[in-house]
Parts: sequence; C-alpha cells; structure tokens
Amino acid sequence: MSEKIYPVTKPVKARALIDKEKYLKWYEESVENPDKFWGKHGRRIDWFKPYTKVKNTSFTGKVSIKWFEDGQTNVSYNCIDRHLKTNGDQVAIIWEGDNPYIDKKVTYNELYEHVCRMANVLKKHGVKKGDRVTIYMPMIPEAAYAMLACARIGAVHSVVFGGFSPEALAGRIVDCESTFVITCDEGLRGGKPVPLKDNTDTAIHIAARQHVNVSKVLVVRRTGGKTGWAPGRDLWYHQEMATVKAECPPVKMKAEDPLFILYTSGSTGKPKGVLHTTGGYLVYAAMTHEYVFDYHHGDVYWCTADVGWVTGHSYIVYGPLANCATTLMFEGVPNFPDQGRFWEVIDKHKVNIFYTAPTAIRSLMGAGDDFVTRSSRSSLRLLGTVGEPINPEAWEWYYNVVGDKRCPVIDTWWQTETGGHMITPLPGATDLKPGSATMPFFGVKPELVDNEGKVLEGAADGNLCITDSWPGQMRTVYGDHERFIQTYFSTYKGKYFTGDGCRRDADGYYWITGRVDDVLNVSGHRLGTAEVESALVSHNLVSEAAVVGYPHPIKGQGIYCYVTLMAGHEGSDTLRQELVKHVRAEIGPIAAPDKIQFAPGLPKTRSGKIMRRILRKIAEDDFGALGDTSTLADPAVVEDLIANRQNKA
Ligand code: WTA
Repeated sequence: MSEKIYPVTKPVKARALIDKEKYLKWYEESVENPDKFWGKHGRRIDWFKPYTKVKNTSFTGKVSIKWFEDGQTNVSYNCIDRHLKTNGDQVAIIWEGDNPYIDKKVTYNELYEHVCRMANVLKKHGVKKGDRVTIYMPMIPEAAYAMLACARIGAVHSVVFGGFSPEALAGRIVDCESTFVITCDEGLRGGKPVPLKDNTDTAIHIAARQHVNVSKVLVVRRTGGKTGWAPGRDLWYHQEMATVKAECPPVKMKAEDPLFILYTSGSTGKPKGVLHTTGGYLVYAAMTHEYVFDYHHGDVYWCTADVGWVTGHSYIVYGPLANCATTLMFEGVPNFPDQGRFWEVIDKHKVNIFYTAPTAIRSLMGAGDDFVTRSSRSSLRLLGTVGEPINPEAWEWYYNVVGDKRCPVIDTWWQTETGGHMITPLPGATDLKPGSATMPFFGVKPELVDNEGKVLEGAADGNLCITDSWPGQMRTVYGDHERFIQTYFSTYKGKYFTGDGCRRDADGYYWITGRVDDVLNVSGHRLGTAEVESALVSHNLVSEAAVVGYPHPIKGQGIYCYVTLMAGHEGSDTLRQELVKHVRAEIGPIAAPDKIQFAPGLPKTRSGKIMRRILRKIAEDDFGALGDTSTLADPAVVEDLIANRQNKA
C-alpha cells in the first residue's frame, strides 16, 4: 500500500466538470434520493417517450432491476442521429490499423450511413427485434457498425472476443441460440493473420451438433485471405451494403429491452451471458465516460481495450459515441512494430485521454523508458487504467514517465456486470493514491462485509458488496435468472456481491485486492478456474485437474495447473506442451497455462473436496504456512506436491 497522495492540481481542477464540492453534493443526493438524481441525469440522452418512473429495483426475493421503465429510446439514435445536425462532419471514429502506415477517419455522417446500411442488411436477411446476433470481429470500425446496427433495429448483440477459439465461440452461439453471425475473413494483429472466418466455420459445425443452426454469416473483407465459403449462407459485407438503402429508421425501444449479451467467466460452470438493457445502460455508460475522463467536446479519446470485452462496449463504442466524442479504435498490439507504438499513436492522432490496462503498463515499463521518451505525448491530459489492481510502481511509472507528472492517473474499478465505472477518482475532485481506485461514483453504495456477512465499518478489509442498484447494472443472466440470483445476491442476502476483496482506509479510500472467488485475472482477462480445469480434463490422458492463480510480474496472475494423469501414464515436457496447446484450442490463447505440475494425487478433504487453499500456497511457493491439513484424506499427497512444485524460488 502506498502512502503517497497526489492532490488535484490547479490546471486539472480549472477545466474539470466536477470539483470536490460538487462531487460531495451530487454523491449525497445520488444515494439519498436516487429517483430525483437519476430522474435528472437520465435526461442526458434523448427519449422518444420520456419516462415518468425512474427507479424500480429490488435485491431480494426474485431480484428485479428496472430503470426508466416506461421510457422509450434507441441507443443507435443517441450515439449517431442526434449529433448530425450540429456535428455531422466531426470525426466519430479514428481507426489506427495494425500497420502503422494505415489509418482512417469516420465522421458522424459516415457512421450514420454505414450503420443504416448494415441495419438494412440485417433486416433484409430476416433479423428481427429481439433476435441474437453474434459478432466475432477484429478491431475494425465494422465491429462498431455491427453493434450499432443491431441496436438500431432492436436485435441483441453478443460480441465474442476475436481471441476466443471455435469451441468457445460455439458455446456462446449455442447458449443464446444465435443464428446470424457477423465476422471477417481474417483479423490482423502484430502483422499476423487471425483466421476468424475459418474459426467461425468450425464453430458453426460444433453448434449444429448441439442443434443450433446458423443460417447466415456476414463477412467483412479485411485481408483478402483465402477462406471457406458456404453459398447461400455466407454473404460478403461489401456486396450486401451496395444493395440496400443508406437510411434506416431507429426502432423505438423500451428502456428495459435488451441491448446486448456479453459472456463472462464466473467461479463455477460455463461463462454466463451477462444481459444489459437499453436506457439505464446508456445513461450510465455516457455519464461515467464524461465525468470520469472529464471529457470535453473536441477531445480525442483512446481506450485500448478490445470490443470483445465490456470495456470496449462501454468505453470505445457506447459511452463515447453517446457523448459525441472522437473515439480511437486500434487494430494492433502494444509491441508492434515495437514497444513504442502506443506513444507513437498518441502523437500521431493528438490523443488527449488514454485508457489502458495495468498489464500493458507493466510490460511497456519493462521495455525501458526510451520507447516512451522518444515521443512527445504533449497532447495527453489524462491517463486511465482498468482491469486489475495496479501496483504502485506501475502507477508511478505511468504518472511520471508516460504522463510527465502532468496527467492524473484514473484507476477505474468496475465489472462486466456493472456496465460502467463504479469506484474511481474524478480528475477534478479526487486526490489520488497510487494503487487505490479511491471513491464511489454517483449512486454507488459500496459496503465491506466479513465472511459471515457482518458489515464492517471504518477502516477495514473485507468482501466488496454494493447495497443498492445503479442504472448500468446487469439485469439478469441470459436465459437463467435463477443463476443470476444465486451468483450475485445469495452470498450476502439483499446485496450485490462483486466477488472482489477490498480494503477501505482511514480516509475512506477503497483498495481492490483482487478476486476472492475462483476467478483468475490474467492480463486483465477474466477466467474461471473451472473453465481451464474442464478444458484440461477433456484431454484423453488427463483424469483430474485443479487450477489456481499465482502472482505474475506482467500478467498480474499466472495460471498454475495441477494435473493427474490416467493410470499408467507419465508426465513429460512434451505432454506439458501438448496440454498447453489443448487448452489454447479449447478456450483461446489467453487461457494458456503458465505452469503445469503433474501430481499423482490432489489434496482432498475426506468428503472429496479439493483444498484449493493448499494448492494456491504451493503455487505461490509459500508452503511454510499451509495452515491446518489435518482434515486431509491423505496428508502424504502434500509432500509430493511440495517436492515437485514448479515455482521454486
Ligand atoms: C478486476 C473489466 C482492481 C476485478 C472492467 C473485477 C479491477 C474484474 C479493476 C472485472 C481495478 C477491474 N482495480 N481490480 N481498477 N478493474 N478489476 O468483468 O477483480 O472483465 O471483479 O470487467 O476485474 O473484470 P471484467
């Protein structure tokens, strides 16, 4: 924990939309009288039919979350049409290609035309309001067009990260019974092609075995690389776009009509379809984007996330476009052509606000300061981070070297489930402490509880809950409301449980300490240990597997796997490599194990429950403090695990 404080500086305060006084006043109103507060701020977006009801939410019983429920609006209209009269020629999207010599600017007028045409293509091929459309795309503007086109006609999009395997894509297609897929021939990252269309073809075969038949695939041509083609099913985007009108009226959507599904990992089972709806989500994404980044009209804003994650949804597409911002979309990777790419792009496009992940900061910090200092970065005004706790060393480097001690570092804590920022500094209002996400956003009521659910007051360390609803909150798990209740509202009755541990210091600052459940955070990507375990045991030589996280200097957490083989088989380096390959194929490269330990047995209680606490300690090379092992069925197992540990100091 760092004890340093960085007070709000004069220049930051001078232009800030929210200062300390306003923060305190607004915050108080937002939690004392949410109806009044959100009734006012809900009007930041345009409504076809204004709402008369604001908040109607309950965290008990069947759990029901409704905001602005009798209002009608359209997300695509709010992100595009309403800006056209005065800002049609303003750049909406700056696209920076993987290749540093290729970029493109898309104005709001052009965005309107692309989105309308794409919406008409969807309609032409039978997509209707409420249908689920899967989007499996690289970071190209067409990914944003696809999302907005769905929103325009009321279709529900499910964006699947382009780094996921065909298996993972198939699982997501099947879960929401999506029969229309939008993809691309190939993606391009760091000069290497990513076979998105081929992956899609494989996924469609897998999905068909589970009785979900994809009937149309709309394919954007990016590289021109060779791919398979199913006539009648596969459609070229550029050909289809030419056949339809450049105008498509936005459908009137109820505030609580679904906008999108986004799959995310939990501590058990397969990934859950987090469902977000229309009105509350957009109000919250737009409002947080404006105040947290202190966004002023004309600023150039860059979030380096992928649209396949929630950060890309809320802070590349929906929040910025609803605010008529200029949002930069980057196709490539931070280390191509070299580790100076981010800073080069910042200079090239005069980026004012930059938002990235601690894992990227740590890895670029390791590359040395020269990559940074050879650029000017004089356009930068604000630096944001998201995805995992940022260690104070990385924070300081980001602040001192990247930001030249001039730009506040805004550490935003939130989740796929929360739709937008929850605990975060506001640049003009919050004195910063490196490593702390600081204070709750408007309307957010955090609470720390111990394992028994007792509420902890003052300075304390506990489990982070949120006690009342905010407009951006997820509404349900798609197709499984019971799982929604079980996952988030049953551990601590009547409270939303985040799954994160957190400390509150004597100044009331919040410090997120990481997940307290069986979810890993690897390079800012969420992964369930159960998912990796099930990928491992699907290999024919593996009889049992247990997966835990361990501290990793760049990734935050590394993936440590204990694997028990089928009788008669021996572990080897070749088999290790094969298992890594197998997990990559089952889930995707982000899930590749870092360490594999072959273990003849796993530590289990007499009732057969794996004792993960012990496995975590051994993976951390901290087995001096294994705690009570007397309940183990076979204590000898532990000695073998320690002797063969893979993280020996
Ligand atoms: C972690 C990403 C510390 C946390 C937006 C959370 C963070 C999970 C931070 C959600 C942060 C995210 N400081 N931890 N600033 N931001 N996390 O759903 O464990 O991909 O529960 O959403 O990431 O990950 P998700």
